[in-house]
Amino acid sequence: MKLPSKVKLVDVGPRDGLQNEKQPVPAVVKITLVHMLQDAGLKEIEVTSFVSPKWVPQMADNAEVMAGIQRKPGVRYSVLTPNMKGFEAAVASKPDEIVVFGAASEAFSQKNINCSIEESIERFAPVVEAARAKGIYTRGAISCAVGCPYEGEVAPERVELVARLMKQIGVQHIGVADTIGVGTPVKVQRAMEAALKHYDIDDISGHFHDTYGQALGNTLATLEMGIWQYDTSSAGLGGCPYAKGATGNVATEDVVYMLHGMGIDTGIDLDKLIDAGKYISDFLQRKPNSRAATAMLNKRAG
Ligand code: HMG
Ligand code: MG
Repeated sequence: MKLPSKVKLVDVGPRDGLQNEKQPVPAVVKITLVHMLQDAGLKEIEVTSFVSPKWVPQMADNAEVMAGIQRKPGVRYSVLTPNMKGFEAAVASKPDEIVVFGAASEAFSQKNINCSIEESIERFAPVVEAARAKGIYTRGAISCAVGCPYEGEVAPERVELVARLMKQIGVQHIGVADTIGVGTPVKVQRAMEAALKHYDIDDISGHFHDTYGQALGNTLATLEMGIWQYDTSSAGLGGCPYAKGATGNVATEDVVYMLHGMGIDTGIDLDKLIDAGKYISDFLQRKPNSRAATAMLNKRAG
């Protein structure tokens, strides 16, 4: 066991969390959520995605949201860019980091970004090159790293292949993503080990959806490997429109509660984080999908 003493959380709620919402969420609500997250101490926020508005209508206000944020020094604002068209649109809004998103499963690649894994790498290569030339940090997401809604179980070798391809085109950091939340601790460790063949431990993060209630366990299992960066979502929002049945990312509140309880520093104020999750949940007219938030809100009410 080599538990890290510090963990960096990237709140992906404004992007992964909201992309799947059917009801329109006004840009001002997204901007307020970003502001509340940065006030809570998040050092990176995944704000939006520059994808086709026909595919993901909820992210059509990407430029407006980016323009409306009052940036806080020391906070990194990241956006998804699947191709050069998305990258060129994103550049105008000055992201600190762009994310290209591929998959360890062929079927999911086709459904999500309308191309094969090989074609996706060809599309990402100029994006990564252009971003790095501009000094924008580059991250790659590897979806379906343990399981795919169309192909079932995904072997670690598939993750290794995509990690190698991403490394070859110059992607600086990769996220190992359990898109549909089917992973269990040992399976997720195997996927991480595959990614570690091509990336240093400091350049890999975990991105675990909580569909089967395994995400906190998967977080702990990979923390024990020394992984110290995770994507999480305030109020447990999230899901991918092209991964039917998948629910949100592990709630940022639950991960922060666990880490602080283990004496691991996140730099996050849990009370303020709960306010952020409550804000967006109230807007969406539902309760936060976080056990820690529920417990703390009940305590406040009592
Ligand atoms: P395509 O149809 O293959 O693209 O879509 P195309 O190049 O053939 O162009 C077709 C039309 O789309 C053209 O417009 C383009 O201009 C337009 P038309 O001439 O028909 O009017 N277009 C764009 N418009 C805006 N922004 C762009 C863009 N590119 C082309 N960037 C594409 C390919 C990737 C665009 C499409 O498949 C798409 O937008 N997919 C959305 C995928 C998505 O956002 N999924 C959710 C995010 S990923 C995720 O959630 C997983 C993650 O959380 C990790 C995990 O949990 O696994 C990251
Ligand atoms: Mg996701």
